[in-house]
Amino acid sequence: MPSRMQWLTFFRQWLKHPRSMASVAPSGRQLGRLMATALPRGAHHIVELGAGTGAITQALVRHGVLPQQLLAVEMNPVLHDVLARRFPRMHLAHGDACHLPELVAKSGAFACGEVDGVLSSLGLLSMPKKLQRDILTAAFAVLRPGGVFVQYTYGLRSPLDEDVCRQMDLRCMSAGFAWCNLPPARVFVYGRH
Ligand SMILES: C[S@@+](CC[C@H](N)C(=O)[O-])C[C@H]1O[C@@H](n2cnc3c(N)ncnc32)[C@H](O)[C@@H]1O
Repeated sequence: MPSRMQWLTFFRQWLKHPRSMASVAPSGRQLGRLMATALPRGAHHIVELGAGTGAITQALVRHGVLPQQLLAVEMNPVLHDVLARRFPRMHLAHGDACHLPELVAKSGAFACGEVDGVLSSLGLLSMPKKLQRDILTAAFAVLRPGGVFVQYTYGLRSPLDEDVCRQMDLRCMSAGFAWCNLPPARVFVYGRH
């Protein structure tokens, strides 16, 4: 469970930036676990997009991922500072997910094309197609062949536009539901055909 302080920080940021926060509360444990188990077995180069107060990050660490194997990207400066304090050994980038190849290269964490999984908490569902395409293009530019993009959504269907999926030649698989999350969420895994 996120702490009271993490809830409060998250909620304050949602009041200020409702669009980019895309949720009023941090993810719960069940959703974090589901995201972590959607990664390929043995994944050790992982990128997290929109890490917020670190709810999914914490689930990854509980799942056995070492903080040094993880690069978290967060564009909100307040939340970036929360993450820096909470996970001092993790690689952390302050920036926009659209610029992921540059952020990975600058971090020195691992090379582009070496990443096993990109986990995203971004509000894809409410984004225009072009922004979705920019983010997915940036993510697949850093993923290794066979690497996956993992995304949760509060809707029942895939949050990625069908045209974007087709144009990028992506296959989509459901990884299950987190019914106990607030609100309940579904996890999807995307990979190249
Ligand atoms: C729904 S919150 C999820 C936070 C956390 N991962 C969780 O599950 O509790 C989305 C987060 O993505 C961040 N974000 C939104 N757009 C972003 C972008 N283009 N690049 C990087 N971070 C972004 C927001 O600042 C926010 O912290």
